[in-house]
Amino acid sequence: MTNMSKYVIQGGKTLKGTISVSGAKNMATKLMVACLLSDQVMTLKNVPEIEDVNRLLEVLSDLGVKINKLHDNTYQLDPKHFNPKNLNMELVSKFRASILLLGPLLAQYQEIKFPHPGGCTIGKRPIDMFIEGFKKMGVTVSIDDKYYIFRSNGLQGAKIVFPQITVTGTETLLLAAVKAKGITHLINVAQEPEVIALAEYLNKNGAKIRGVGTSVLEIEGVNNLQNSEVEIIPDRIEAGSFLALACASNSNLKITNCNPDHLQVPLTLLEQMGVKMKIGLNEIEILASKDLQALNIKTHEYPGFPTDMQAPFTVLMTQAFGQSLIHETIFEGRLFYTDFLNRMGANIIMCDPQRVLLTGPTKLKGKKLESPDLRAGIAMVIAGLIAEGTTEIENIYQIERGYEGLIDKLKAVGANIIKKND
Ligand code: EPU
Repeated sequence: MTNMSKYVIQGGKTLKGTISVSGAKNMATKLMVACLLSDQVMTLKNVPEIEDVNRLLEVLSDLGVKINKLHDNTYQLDPKHFNPKNLNMELVSKFRASILLLGPLLAQYQEIKFPHPGGCTIGKRPIDMFIEGFKKMGVTVSIDDKYYIFRSNGLQGAKIVFPQITVTGTETLLLAAVKAKGITHLINVAQEPEVIALAEYLNKNGAKIRGVGTSVLEIEGVNNLQNSEVEIIPDRIEAGSFLALACASNSNLKITNCNPDHLQVPLTLLEQMGVKMKIGLNEIEILASKDLQALNIKTHEYPGFPTDMQAPFTVLMTQAFGQSLIHETIFEGRLFYTDFLNRMGANIIMCDPQRVLLTGPTKLKGKKLESPDLRAGIAMVIAGLIAEGTTEIENIYQIERGYEGLIDKLKAVGANIIKKND
Protein backbone atom coordinates (compact mmCIF):
# COMPACT_ATOMS: atom_id res chain seq x y z
CA MET A 1 0.00 0.00 0.00
CA THR A 2 1.66 3.21 -1.17
CA ASN A 3 0.51 6.61 -2.25
CA MET A 4 2.12 9.17 -4.50
CA SER A 5 2.01 12.08 -2.08
CA LYS A 6 5.14 13.37 -0.42
CA TYR A 7 6.15 15.65 2.43
CA VAL A 8 8.29 18.66 1.65
CA ILE A 9 10.10 20.16 4.63
CA GLN A 10 12.17 23.33 4.92
CA GLY A 11 14.26 22.50 7.95
CA GLY A 12 16.32 24.31 10.53
CA LYS A 13 13.56 26.13 12.45
CA THR A 14 13.09 25.85 16.18
CA LEU A 15 9.53 25.02 17.17
CA LYS A 16 7.36 26.52 19.87
CA GLY A 17 3.99 25.84 21.42
CA THR A 18 1.79 22.92 22.30
CA ILE A 19 1.46 19.62 20.47
CA SER A 20 -1.16 17.13 21.45
CA VAL A 21 -0.95 13.33 21.43
CA SER A 22 -3.68 11.19 19.85
CA GLY A 23 -5.07 7.81 20.88
CA ALA A 24 -2.75 4.81 20.75
CA LYS A 25 -2.67 2.96 17.43
CA ASN A 26 -1.66 -0.26 19.13
CA MET A 27 -4.59 -0.14 21.52
CA ALA A 28 -7.28 1.07 19.08
CA THR A 29 -6.63 -1.72 16.57
CA LYS A 30 -6.71 -4.41 19.29
CA LEU A 31 -9.98 -3.18 20.78
CA MET A 32 -11.58 -3.05 17.35
CA VAL A 33 -10.75 -6.74 16.92
CA ALA A 34 -11.96 -7.55 20.45
CA CYS A 35 -15.42 -6.26 19.52
CA LEU A 36 -15.93 -9.53 17.58
CA LEU A 37 -16.12 -11.52 20.83
CA SER A 38 -19.58 -10.17 21.66
CA ASP A 39 -22.77 -9.43 19.75
CA GLN A 40 -23.21 -6.10 21.46
CA VAL A 41 -22.21 -2.63 20.31
CA MET A 42 -18.76 -1.25 21.21
CA THR A 43 -18.21 2.50 21.44
CA LEU A 44 -14.61 3.57 20.98
CA LYS A 45 -13.50 7.06 21.95
CA ASN A 46 -10.20 8.82 21.17
CA VAL A 47 -9.59 6.58 18.13
CA PRO A 48 -6.72 8.00 16.05
CA GLU A 49 -7.69 8.86 12.46
CA ILE A 50 -4.83 6.94 10.83
CA GLU A 51 -4.41 4.56 7.93
CA ASP A 52 -3.99 1.42 10.09
CA VAL A 53 -7.36 2.16 11.71
CA ASN A 54 -8.92 2.75 8.28
CA ARG A 55 -7.56 -0.57 6.97
CA LEU A 56 -8.92 -2.46 9.97
CA LEU A 57 -12.31 -0.76 9.61
CA GLU A 58 -12.35 -2.04 6.01
CA VAL A 59 -11.54 -5.57 7.15
CA LEU A 60 -14.25 -5.42 9.86
CA SER A 61 -16.79 -3.93 7.51
CA ASP A 62 -16.18 -6.78 5.02
CA LEU A 63 -16.76 -9.18 7.92
CA GLY A 64 -20.23 -7.70 8.42
CA VAL A 65 -19.49 -5.33 11.32
CA LYS A 66 -21.64 -2.22 11.09
CA ILE A 67 -19.49 0.85 11.60
CA ASN A 68 -20.95 4.13 12.66
CA LYS A 69 -18.66 7.13 12.99
CA LEU A 70 -20.41 9.28 15.59
CA HIS A 71 -17.94 12.13 15.19
CA ASP A 72 -14.20 12.56 14.78
CA ASN A 73 -12.33 9.96 16.85
CA THR A 74 -15.51 8.23 18.08
CA TYR A 75 -16.83 5.06 16.46
CA GLN A 76 -19.55 2.57 17.19
CA LEU A 77 -18.96 -0.98 16.04
CA ASP A 78 -21.89 -3.37 15.86
CA PRO A 79 -20.69 -6.96 15.29
CA LYS A 80 -24.17 -8.59 15.31
CA HIS A 81 -23.95 -9.66 11.65
CA PHE A 82 -20.29 -10.68 11.74
CA ASN A 83 -19.60 -13.56 9.33
CA PRO A 84 -16.07 -15.05 9.23
CA LYS A 85 -16.65 -16.38 5.68
CA ASN A 86 -16.34 -12.81 4.42
CA LEU A 87 -12.72 -12.35 5.47
CA ASN A 88 -11.04 -10.19 2.82
CA MET A 89 -8.00 -12.39 2.16
CA GLU A 90 -6.15 -9.88 0.02
CA LEU A 91 -6.43 -7.03 2.51
CA VAL A 92 -5.67 -9.26 5.48
CA SER A 93 -2.51 -10.63 3.83
CA LYS A 94 -1.16 -7.10 3.39
CA PHE A 95 -2.03 -5.76 6.81
CA ARG A 96 0.13 -7.28 9.51
CA ALA A 97 -2.08 -6.45 12.53
CA SER A 98 -4.92 -8.54 11.06
CA ILE A 99 -3.23 -11.57 12.61
CA LEU A 100 -5.10 -10.56 15.79
CA LEU A 101 -8.37 -11.62 14.13
CA LEU A 102 -7.29 -15.22 14.69
CA GLY A 103 -8.11 -14.80 18.41
CA PRO A 104 -11.85 -14.07 18.11
CA LEU A 105 -12.18 -16.20 14.96
CA LEU A 106 -10.75 -19.37 16.49
CA ALA A 107 -12.51 -18.71 19.81
CA GLN A 108 -15.87 -18.88 18.02
CA TYR A 109 -15.54 -20.95 14.82
CA GLN A 110 -14.25 -24.44 14.18
CA GLU A 111 -12.67 -23.90 10.78
CA ILE A 112 -10.86 -20.80 9.64
CA LYS A 113 -8.88 -20.17 6.48
CA PHE A 114 -6.32 -17.41 6.91
CA PRO A 115 -3.68 -16.01 4.54
CA HIS A 116 0.03 -15.93 5.36
CA PRO A 117 0.89 -12.60 6.91
CA GLY A 118 3.61 -10.87 4.92
CA GLY A 119 7.04 -9.92 6.23
CA CYS A 120 8.00 -6.27 6.34
CA THR A 121 11.02 -4.02 6.25
CA ILE A 122 11.67 -4.15 10.01
CA GLY A 123 12.09 -7.94 10.06
CA LYS A 124 10.63 -11.30 9.15
CA ARG A 125 7.65 -11.09 11.58
CA PRO A 126 7.07 -14.87 11.99
CA ILE A 127 3.91 -16.28 13.64
CA ASP A 128 5.31 -19.52 15.04
CA MET A 129 4.41 -18.60 18.64
CA PHE A 130 0.77 -17.98 17.65
CA ILE A 131 0.61 -21.34 15.88
CA GLU A 132 2.20 -23.24 18.79
CA GLY A 133 -0.23 -21.58 21.22
CA PHE A 134 -3.28 -22.51 19.16
CA LYS A 135 -2.03 -26.09 18.79
CA LYS A 136 -1.85 -26.32 22.60
CA MET A 137 -5.48 -25.19 22.69
CA GLY A 138 -6.53 -28.09 20.44
CA VAL A 139 -6.29 -26.55 16.99
CA THR A 140 -4.83 -28.48 14.07
CA VAL A 141 -3.05 -26.37 11.53
CA SER A 142 -2.41 -27.22 7.89
CA ILE A 143 -0.48 -24.97 5.58
CA ASP A 144 -0.33 -24.64 1.82
CA ASP A 145 1.58 -22.04 -0.18
CA LYS A 146 -1.11 -19.38 0.32
CA TYR A 147 -3.21 -20.20 3.37
CA TYR A 148 -3.31 -21.66 6.83
CA ILE A 149 -6.32 -23.81 7.63
CA PHE A 150 -7.12 -23.94 11.35
CA ARG A 151 -9.53 -26.61 12.65
CA SER A 152 -10.74 -27.44 16.15
CA ASN A 153 -13.73 -28.81 18.04
CA GLY A 154 -13.75 -25.70 20.20
CA LEU A 155 -10.75 -24.26 22.02
CA GLN A 156 -9.54 -25.90 25.24
CA GLY A 157 -7.71 -24.06 28.00
CA ALA A 158 -3.99 -24.87 28.05
CA LYS A 159 -0.62 -23.87 29.45
CA ILE A 160 1.18 -21.74 26.87
CA VAL A 161 4.74 -20.58 27.45
CA PHE A 162 6.07 -17.88 25.14
CA PRO A 163 9.79 -18.54 24.54
CA GLN A 164 10.12 -14.84 23.66
CA ILE A 165 7.87 -11.93 24.63
CA THR A 166 5.42 -11.07 21.85
CA VAL A 167 2.89 -8.23 21.94
CA THR A 168 0.38 -9.37 19.33
CA GLY A 169 1.04 -13.02 20.24
CA THR A 170 -0.01 -12.30 23.82
CA GLU A 171 -3.05 -10.31 22.68
CA THR A 172 -4.20 -12.86 20.10
CA LEU A 173 -4.03 -15.82 22.47
CA LEU A 174 -5.70 -13.74 25.18
CA LEU A 175 -8.56 -12.95 22.78
CA ALA A 176 -8.87 -16.69 22.12
CA ALA A 177 -8.54 -17.87 25.73
CA VAL A 178 -11.28 -15.63 27.16
CA LYS A 179 -13.86 -17.85 25.41
CA ALA A 180 -12.02 -21.20 25.55
CA LYS A 181 -13.25 -24.09 27.66
CA GLY A 182 -11.45 -24.18 31.02
CA ILE A 183 -8.37 -22.39 32.26
CA THR A 184 -5.49 -21.07 30.16
CA HIS A 185 -2.16 -19.98 31.54
CA LEU A 186 -0.15 -17.59 29.37
CA ILE A 187 3.42 -17.43 30.64
CA ASN A 188 6.01 -14.75 29.80
CA VAL A 189 3.45 -12.35 28.33
CA ALA A 190 3.96 -8.81 27.05
CA GLN A 191 3.15 -6.09 29.60
CA GLU A 192 2.84 -3.06 27.32
CA PRO A 193 0.18 -0.55 28.53
CA GLU A 194 -1.89 -1.38 25.44
CA VAL A 195 -1.93 -5.08 26.34
CA ILE A 196 -3.04 -4.24 29.88
CA ALA A 197 -5.75 -1.90 28.58
CA LEU A 198 -7.09 -4.70 26.36
CA ALA A 199 -7.18 -7.16 29.28
CA GLU A 200 -8.88 -4.60 31.50
CA TYR A 201 -11.54 -3.97 28.86
CA LEU A 202 -12.20 -7.70 28.53
CA ASN A 203 -12.48 -8.09 32.33
CA LYS A 204 -14.87 -5.15 32.53
CA ASN A 205 -17.06 -6.94 30.01
CA GLY A 206 -17.27 -10.36 31.59
CA ALA A 207 -13.89 -12.02 31.01
CA LYS A 208 -12.03 -13.67 33.87
CA ILE A 209 -8.37 -12.76 33.46
CA ARG A 210 -6.16 -12.81 36.53
CA GLY A 211 -2.61 -11.44 36.81
CA VAL A 212 -3.17 -8.47 34.51
CA GLY A 213 0.01 -6.35 34.56
CA THR A 214 2.27 -9.29 35.44
CA SER A 215 4.16 -11.75 33.25
CA VAL A 216 1.69 -14.61 33.85
CA LEU A 217 -1.99 -14.47 32.94
CA GLU A 218 -4.55 -16.98 34.18
CA ILE A 219 -7.69 -16.93 32.07
CA GLU A 220 -10.88 -18.75 32.92
CA GLY A 221 -12.95 -19.11 29.77
CA VAL A 222 -16.53 -17.76 29.74
CA ASN A 223 -19.39 -18.32 27.29
CA ASN A 224 -20.49 -14.75 26.83
CA LEU A 225 -18.85 -11.35 26.76
CA GLN A 226 -20.39 -7.91 26.57
CA ASN A 227 -19.17 -4.83 24.73
CA SER A 228 -19.22 -1.33 26.15
CA GLU A 229 -17.73 2.14 25.81
CA VAL A 230 -13.97 2.44 25.98
CA GLU A 231 -11.51 5.29 25.65
CA ILE A 232 -8.21 4.70 23.88
CA ILE A 233 -5.15 5.64 25.96
CA PRO A 234 -2.64 8.20 24.64
CA ASP A 235 -0.12 6.94 22.11
CA ARG A 236 3.15 6.73 24.04
CA ILE A 237 5.14 6.22 20.85
CA GLU A 238 3.73 9.37 19.25
CA ALA A 239 4.53 11.23 22.50
CA GLY A 240 8.08 9.83 22.43
CA SER A 241 8.48 10.89 18.79
CA PHE A 242 7.51 14.47 19.73
CA LEU A 243 9.93 14.36 22.69
CA ALA A 244 12.77 13.42 20.34
CA LEU A 245 11.71 16.16 17.91
CA ALA A 246 11.57 18.84 20.63
CA CYS A 247 15.01 17.93 22.01
CA ALA A 248 16.67 17.46 18.62
CA SER A 249 15.38 20.81 17.33
CA ASN A 250 16.35 22.64 20.53
CA SER A 251 12.74 23.80 20.94
CA ASN A 252 10.39 24.77 23.74
CA LEU A 253 7.52 22.37 23.20
CA LYS A 254 4.72 21.24 25.48
CA ILE A 255 3.45 17.75 24.70
CA THR A 256 -0.10 17.39 25.99
CA ASN A 257 -2.66 14.55 26.38
CA CYS A 258 0.07 12.05 27.14
CA ASN A 259 0.76 9.72 30.04
CA PRO A 260 4.28 10.32 31.42
CA ASP A 261 3.98 7.11 33.50
CA HIS A 262 4.16 5.16 30.21
CA LEU A 263 7.36 6.97 29.21
CA GLN A 264 9.55 6.49 32.26
CA VAL A 265 12.61 4.97 30.58
CA PRO A 266 12.70 7.41 27.62
CA LEU A 267 12.22 10.35 30.03
CA THR A 268 15.04 9.10 32.27
CA LEU A 269 17.36 8.85 29.26
CA LEU A 270 16.48 12.42 28.27
CA GLU A 271 17.26 13.62 31.79
CA GLN A 272 20.60 11.84 31.63
CA MET A 273 21.33 13.57 28.32
CA GLY A 274 20.82 16.93 30.03
CA VAL A 275 17.35 17.78 28.72
CA LYS A 276 15.45 20.22 30.92
CA MET A 277 11.78 19.44 31.28
CA LYS A 278 8.70 19.84 33.43
CA ILE A 279 6.58 16.74 33.84
CA GLY A 280 2.91 17.16 34.73
CA LEU A 281 0.09 14.68 35.20
CA ASN A 282 -0.66 14.37 31.48
CA GLU A 283 1.81 16.69 29.81
CA ILE A 284 5.54 17.12 29.39
CA GLU A 285 7.15 20.46 28.68
CA ILE A 286 10.54 20.32 27.02
CA LEU A 287 12.70 23.39 27.51
CA ALA A 288 15.32 24.18 24.89
CA SER A 289 18.52 22.66 26.22
CA LYS A 290 22.03 23.02 24.80
CA ASP A 291 25.03 20.65 24.98
CA LEU A 292 23.09 17.40 25.15
CA GLN A 293 25.27 14.40 25.96
CA ALA A 294 25.07 11.22 23.87
CA LEU A 295 24.23 7.96 25.58
CA ASN A 296 23.66 4.33 24.69
CA ILE A 297 20.23 2.97 23.86
CA LYS A 298 19.17 -0.65 24.06
CA THR A 299 15.62 -1.51 23.07
CA HIS A 300 13.67 -3.79 25.39
CA GLU A 301 10.12 -4.97 26.00
CA TYR A 302 8.01 -2.64 28.19
CA PRO A 303 8.84 -1.02 30.55
CA GLY A 304 12.22 -0.92 28.79
CA PHE A 305 13.10 1.45 25.96
CA PRO A 306 10.59 0.77 23.13
CA THR A 307 11.82 -0.41 19.75
CA ASP A 308 9.21 1.89 18.21
CA MET A 309 11.04 4.93 19.64
CA GLN A 310 14.49 3.79 18.58
CA ALA A 311 14.57 5.58 15.20
CA PRO A 312 13.39 9.01 16.48
CA PHE A 313 15.88 8.82 19.36
CA THR A 314 18.69 7.88 16.97
CA VAL A 315 17.99 11.12 15.09
CA LEU A 316 18.19 12.92 18.43
CA MET A 317 21.59 11.33 19.15
CA THR A 318 22.98 12.89 15.95
CA GLN A 319 22.60 16.23 17.76
CA ALA A 320 24.23 15.15 21.06
CA PHE A 321 27.90 15.29 22.04
CA GLY A 322 29.81 12.03 22.11
CA GLN A 323 29.36 8.43 21.05
CA SER A 324 26.20 6.47 21.25
CA LEU A 325 25.75 2.73 20.75
CA ILE A 326 22.24 1.96 19.57
CA HIS A 327 21.34 -1.68 20.10
CA GLU A 328 18.07 -2.87 18.55
CA THR A 329 17.22 -6.13 20.30
CA ILE A 330 13.62 -6.74 19.12
CA PHE A 331 13.64 -6.63 15.29
CA GLU A 332 16.55 -7.71 13.12
CA GLY A 333 15.92 -5.22 10.30
CA ARG A 334 15.22 -2.03 12.18
CA LEU A 335 18.48 -0.10 11.76
CA PHE A 336 18.92 -0.07 8.00
CA TYR A 337 17.28 3.37 7.82
CA THR A 338 20.45 4.82 9.44
CA ASP A 339 21.84 4.84 5.93
CA PHE A 340 19.60 7.84 5.13
CA LEU A 341 20.89 9.69 8.20
CA ASN A 342 24.44 9.20 6.92
CA ARG A 343 23.38 10.57 3.53
CA MET A 344 22.12 13.65 5.41
CA GLY A 345 25.49 14.06 7.15
CA ALA A 346 25.34 11.86 10.26
CA ASN A 347 28.30 9.79 11.38
CA ILE A 348 26.95 6.29 11.94
CA ILE A 349 28.81 3.00 11.61
CA MET A 350 26.88 -0.23 11.43
CA CYS A 351 28.61 -2.77 13.69
CA ASP A 352 26.17 -5.55 12.78
CA PRO A 353 22.53 -5.50 11.63
CA GLN A 354 21.31 -4.85 15.17
CA ARG A 355 23.93 -2.36 16.45
CA VAL A 356 25.16 0.99 15.22
CA LEU A 357 27.75 3.36 16.65
CA LEU A 358 26.93 7.00 16.24
CA THR A 359 29.21 9.98 16.84
CA GLY A 360 27.74 13.43 17.30
CA PRO A 361 26.93 16.16 17.00
CA THR A 362 26.67 16.51 13.24
CA LYS A 363 24.80 19.03 11.12
CA LEU A 364 22.25 17.41 8.85
CA LYS A 365 21.46 18.50 5.28
CA GLY A 366 18.10 18.13 3.53
CA LYS A 367 17.77 15.20 1.10
CA LYS A 368 15.24 13.28 -1.01
CA LEU A 369 14.14 10.26 1.00
CA GLU A 370 11.65 7.42 0.87
CA SER A 371 10.00 6.13 4.03
CA PRO A 372 10.57 2.36 4.44
CA ASP A 373 8.28 1.93 7.48
CA LEU A 374 6.32 3.91 10.05
CA ARG A 375 9.00 4.65 12.63
CA ALA A 376 11.88 5.16 10.19
CA GLY A 377 9.42 7.47 8.42
CA ILE A 378 8.83 9.70 11.45
CA ALA A 379 12.60 9.69 12.03
CA MET A 380 12.96 11.11 8.50
CA VAL A 381 10.44 13.83 9.31
CA ILE A 382 12.37 14.76 12.48
CA ALA A 383 15.68 14.69 10.60
CA GLY A 384 14.16 16.88 7.86
CA LEU A 385 12.88 19.38 10.42
CA ILE A 386 16.32 19.85 11.98
CA ALA A 387 18.30 19.71 8.71
CA GLU A 388 19.47 22.68 6.70
CA GLY A 389 17.60 23.05 3.40
CA THR A 390 14.84 21.02 1.83
CA THR A 391 13.92 17.43 2.59
CA GLU A 392 11.40 15.51 0.50
CA ILE A 393 9.93 12.29 1.86
CA GLU A 394 8.12 9.83 -0.39
CA ASN A 395 5.99 6.80 0.48
CA ILE A 396 4.33 8.75 3.29
CA TYR A 397 1.52 6.19 3.48
CA GLN A 398 3.92 4.43 5.84
CA ILE A 399 3.96 7.48 8.14
CA GLU A 400 0.24 8.14 7.92
CA ARG A 401 -0.38 4.56 9.06
CA GLY A 402 0.40 5.71 12.59
CA TYR A 403 0.51 9.50 13.07
CA GLU A 404 -2.80 11.37 13.16
CA GLY A 405 -2.90 14.82 11.56
CA LEU A 406 0.88 15.04 11.61
CA ILE A 407 1.24 17.94 9.19
CA ASP A 408 -1.32 20.12 10.99
CA LYS A 409 0.18 19.34 14.38
CA LEU A 410 3.69 20.24 13.20
CA LYS A 411 2.60 23.40 11.35
CA ALA A 412 0.83 24.63 14.49
CA VAL A 413 4.15 24.67 16.35
CA GLY A 414 5.93 26.51 13.56
CA ALA A 415 7.29 23.74 11.34
CA ASN A 416 7.61 24.40 7.63
CA ILE A 417 6.18 21.18 6.21
CA ILE A 418 3.65 20.60 3.45
CA LYS A 419 2.05 17.59 1.82
CA LYS A 420 2.25 17.60 -1.96
CA ASN A 421 0.05 15.36 -4.05
CA ASP A 422 1.88 14.44 -7.25
N1 EPU B 1 8.26 -13.16 17.03
C1 EPU B 1 8.55 -14.46 16.67
N2 EPU B 1 7.51 -15.34 16.50
C2 EPU B 1 6.22 -14.96 16.69
C3 EPU B 1 5.92 -13.63 17.07
C4 EPU B 1 6.98 -12.74 17.23
O1 EPU B 1 9.71 -14.84 16.49
O2 EPU B 1 5.33 -15.83 16.53
C5 EPU B 1 9.38 -12.23 17.25
C6 EPU B 1 9.37 -11.03 16.30
O3 EPU B 1 9.96 -11.36 15.05
C7 EPU B 1 10.17 -10.02 17.08
C8 EPU B 1 9.79 -10.31 18.53
O4 EPU B 1 9.24 -11.64 18.52
O5 EPU B 1 11.53 -10.25 16.89
C9 EPU B 1 8.79 -9.38 19.14
O6 EPU B 1 7.73 -9.13 18.24
P1 EPU B 1 6.24 -8.87 18.69
O7 EPU B 1 5.44 -10.09 18.36
O8 EPU B 1 6.21 -8.37 20.08
O9 EPU B 1 5.85 -7.71 17.69
P2 EPU B 1 4.41 -7.47 17.12
O10 EPU B 1 3.42 -7.90 18.13
O11 EPU B 1 4.31 -8.00 15.74
C10 EPU B 1 3.96 -5.10 18.12
C11 EPU B 1 3.64 -3.75 17.60
C12 EPU B 1 4.89 -3.17 16.95
C13 EPU B 1 6.00 -3.13 17.98
C14 EPU B 1 6.22 -4.52 18.58
C15 EPU B 1 7.24 -4.54 19.69
C16 EPU B 1 1.33 -3.91 17.02
C17 EPU B 1 0.30 -3.94 15.95
N3 EPU B 1 2.57 -3.84 16.62
O12 EPU B 1 4.35 -5.88 17.01
O13 EPU B 1 4.56 -1.88 16.53
O14 EPU B 1 7.19 -2.69 17.38
O15 EPU B 1 4.98 -5.03 19.10
O16 EPU B 1 6.85 -3.68 20.72
O17 EPU B 1 1.00 -3.88 18.21
C18 EPU B 1 4.83 0.05 15.23
O18 EPU B 1 3.88 0.55 15.87
O19 EPU B 1 5.56 0.72 14.46
C19 EPU B 1 5.11 -1.37 15.39
C20 EPU B 1 5.86 -2.05 14.52
